[in-house]
Amino acid sequence: MVKPLRKAVLPVAGLGTRFLPATKAMPKEMLPVVDKPLIQYAVDEARAAGIEQFCMVTGRGKTALIDHFDIAFELEATLAERSKRDALALLRSEAMPPGSISTVRQQVPLGLGHAIWCARSFIGEDPFAILLPDDLVLSDTPCLEQLANVYQETGGNVVAVTQVPPEHTNRYGILKIGAAEGNRVAVEGLVEKPAPKDAPSDLSIIGRYILLPEVMTYLSMMERGAGNEVQLTDAMAKMIGHAPFHGLKFEGRRFDCGDKIGFLEAQIAFALARPDLGPAVREFLKNYVNA
Ligand code: G1P
Repeated sequence: MVKPLRKAVLPVAGLGTRFLPATKAMPKEMLPVVDKPLIQYAVDEARAAGIEQFCMVTGRGKTALIDHFDIAFELEATLAERSKRDALALLRSEAMPPGSISTVRQQVPLGLGHAIWCARSFIGEDPFAILLPDDLVLSDTPCLEQLANVYQETGGNVVAVTQVPPEHTNRYGILKIGAAEGNRVAVEGLVEKPAPKDAPSDLSIIGRYILLPEVMTYLSMMERGAGNEVQLTDAMAKMIGHAPFHGLKFEGRRFDCGDKIGFLEAQIAFALARPDLGPAVREFLKNYVNA
């Protein structure tokens, strides 16, 4: 029997130096795409896939992320007083059930693998999802739900993958691909940020994972990899052969919001996809393109 997937880890300890000065006094995960912070996209996507318990791996200066998911009592009272029903309904529809968000701190920035390992007590013996809020996916079916469907069938590890230009392999975790079945590929190897000449393929991992708890055993070895960091990719590679491991070429478009161009493109794409904003945005864009 496949264990149900109910837990997710959100690593949010990063400094966001690429977005200074915007991120000087505010976590980068609070940057909005249109009118919703990146962290909220990640949480909404996870809840749509059946996730009920969250662990945020935070660092110093990240309390706004926790406050964001609390009840804003004064704000709600003021909105009620002023009969701002839509705004109030929006806030209430996004309220999290009590006790559904835990936090742990990653005191030292030793890498993504180390951040995930910090959540080991929260995970215990359960399978779990990881969502990196920097990666946004615009799709018909939420990306994590697509992965969860594969997990339900295989009971193994699943990562979302997408093709990247060959010269960009040194930015991502890259797959060595085995047998393909539709949009699913068996993972035969994983390399973190290989130089283009060493890359086993052009299929990169994006920030959506479903992993078995055994990954914590490999992470606890604290081996340093690319960039002298404890890499999640290296620990995942050690699980290959012990349990099914698939890459899913998900349906949808991924935006790397850790990068300025990716972030700007996400603003446009998400605004265009909104019925309330799309037509106006399409109209004003004409003033900027083909000029
Ligand atoms: C991390 C992972 C990498 C993955 C990427 C997806 O890299 O280490 O394997 O491809 O996220 O966004 P980072 O963006 O933290 O450098």
